[in-house]
Amino acid sequence: MTLLELEDVTAAYGRVQVLEGVSLSVPDGGAVGILGANGAGKTTTLRAISGTVRVGGRITFDGTDITKLGPEKVAALGIAHVPEGRGTLPNLTVRENLMVGAYLRRDAAQVRSDIDYLLELFPNLKERIGSNASALSGGEQQMLAVSRAFMAKPRLLVLDEPSLGLAPSTAKNVYDAIQRLRVESGIAMLVVEQNANLAFRIVDSAVVLETGRSVLSGSSAELRGRDEIRKAYLGG
Ligand SMILES: Nc1ncnc2c1ncn2[C@@H]1O[C@H](COP(=O)(O)OP(=O)(O)OP(=O)(O)O)[C@@H](O)[C@H]1O
Ligand SMILES: [Mg+2]
Repeated sequence: MTLLELEDVTAAYGRVQVLEGVSLSVPDGGAVGILGANGAGKTTTLRAISGTVRVGGRITFDGTDITKLGPEKVAALGIAHVPEGRGTLPNLTVRENLMVGAYLRRDAAQVRSDIDYLLELFPNLKERIGSNASALSGGEQQMLAVSRAFMAKPRLLVLDEPSLGLAPSTAKNVYDAIQRLRVESGIAMLVVEQNANLAFRIVDSAVVLETGRSVLSGSSAELRGRDEIRKAYLGG
């Protein structure tokens, strides 16, 4: 079943049209990547989904038309967004950040057990549970940002370049952690990434954006085998 579908989506900042026609779909429980160069419109595509930019075309989530919905309604329907540059609250502790992620939930016992679950999954966070987010390493902050979004109990996790600013080995660890979360929880994911080698660690399929348009899509195996993808996004 399709969970999220974008059909010929356009978006503009003021008068400047940035998305010219983006189509993609995320199956329920699936993981889809968005690849593309700087400025291709990857972040804007995620903003279109989360309702923070003016959108044309059509976006549906679990059968509901969300094209014109604002960010709070979209979040309430079950889409959690980890923005570019992480989005943890630096002056709150790891535990407090996780609690903030769950602020709309009323199931206190389940919230506690979800926190325990995440701390088992991410031992680094467990060790730093009482530290302020600002005291964490970049990789730990990214794991916290993902965990915080997960605490909202979304059906779809939207991640904007989880590897941004991280050393290659740290980025790999973060992706391995995200992969564990995906396998364990079965949550659907839409992942923006410039480094296709990292994205292909977790996504089943991907779409390539060029200047605001989706120009190519396919399974990870298919895309990996294509010369133009290897040259542009796989370093060879
Ligand atoms: N708030 C804004 N106002 C006006 N133009 C913007 C705004 N944000 C982005 N843009 C423009 O929209 C285009 C797409 O930007 P976007 O951030 O979606 O690209 P991206 O693919 O995420 O790039 P990157 O890989 O650098 O993060 C760029 O030309 C950018 O300059
Ligand atoms: Mg971006």
